[in-house]
Amino acid sequence: MARIIAGVGSSHVPAIGAALDNGKTEEPYWKRVFSGFEKSQEWMRETRPDVAIIVYNDHASAFSVEMIPTFALGCAAEFPPADEGWGPRPVPVVQGYPALASHIAQSVILDEFDLTICNKMEVDHGMTVPMNLLFGKVDKNSHWPCPVIPLAVNVVMYPPPTGHRCYMLGRAIRKAVQSYPEDLRVVIFGTGGLSHQISGPRAGLINSKWDKNFLDNLSKDPQKLAKIPHIDYMREAGAEGIEMVMWLIMRGALDDKVDEVYRFYTVPASNTAVGHIILENRKRGVKTATKHKRAAVRAKVDRIRG
Ligand code: DHB
Ligand code: FE
Repeated sequence: MARIIAGVGSSHVPAIGAALDNGKTEEPYWKRVFSGFEKSQEWMRETRPDVAIIVYNDHASAFSVEMIPTFALGCAAEFPPADEGWGPRPVPVVQGYPALASHIAQSVILDEFDLTICNKMEVDHGMTVPMNLLFGKVDKNSHWPCPVIPLAVNVVMYPPPTGHRCYMLGRAIRKAVQSYPEDLRVVIFGTGGLSHQISGPRAGLINSKWDKNFLDNLSKDPQKLAKIPHIDYMREAGAEGIEMVMWLIMRGALDDKVDEVYRFYTVPASNTAVGHIILENRKRGVKTATKHKRAAVRAKVDRIRG
C-alpha cells in the first residue's frame, strides 16, 4: 500500500526562482533565504520519496480569468514549465504519475470532492519554486528527483475554497493514497504564503505574529486553523495571504499527531514572508514491502522520472 510519510510547507515567491536562475543565490539578501533550505534539501535527499503531491496555485498561467477550477488535479504524464512573461524557467519538465493521480481522482471524487481533471497542463512558479527550494537547482536537461502529482487550487479569484474544505480534501487524499496498491512512499507539499499583499494601499503588508502562530498550530492544532474564515486571512495576512489555505490540504493529508522536524521563517523575500515547515508522520515507511519489492517500486519510479 502507498503511504504519505511527510508533509512540507513552503512559500513560492517568484523572485526566489529568478534569483536561482540568474545566479544570485550567494548575494546576502538571497543567501539568507536559500540557507534556510539547506537542511531541508538534506532531509529530502535522505527521505527520497517515490512521488510528491504538490498542492500549489496557478497564477493565470495554465488557467486565466476566463476559467478557474477550484481544485484541479494533474493526471498527465508530464507538466512543462509555463512561460510567465520571461520565457519558461530553465527547469526540467515535471514528470507526473498518471496511475496514482487517476486513482486519487477516482477516490476523492467518489468521496464527493469535485476535482477538475487536467490531462494537459503547464506549471508556474507556484510549483517550480518550492520544488527548487526542496530539491535544489536542477539542470533543465536533467530530471527532478521524483515524479510529481500537481494539485492546483484557486486562491487568485474570489471565492477561494475555505480552509476547512482544504483540510477535508487533504483527509480524502490521505485515504486515496492509502488505498493505492503499490508500496509508494509519498511526500505532500502545501505551498504559497505566508503573509503578503502585492497591490493596493496595504501593499507590502507582513504579519509575522500571525505567520508564526499559523506554523505553531499547523503542527499542534490544525483543526483550529481549519476554522479560520477568509476575512481573517485577508485582514491579518494580506490579500495574497489566502494562499495559506493550501497548507491545510497538506496538513489534512497527514496523521493527527505529527513530528515537526524543521522550521524556517524569514522576512522578506520580494514582498513576502517566507515560511517553511517539515512535518513527519510517526508511522513512516512501508512496512509490508520486502527489500525485493521496494527495489522493484524504485526501479519503476526511476523509469517514470526520466
Ligand atoms: C510575490 C509573491 C507571490 O506569491 C506571487 O505569486 C507573486 C509575487 C512577491 O512577493 O512579489
Ligand atoms: Fe503567489
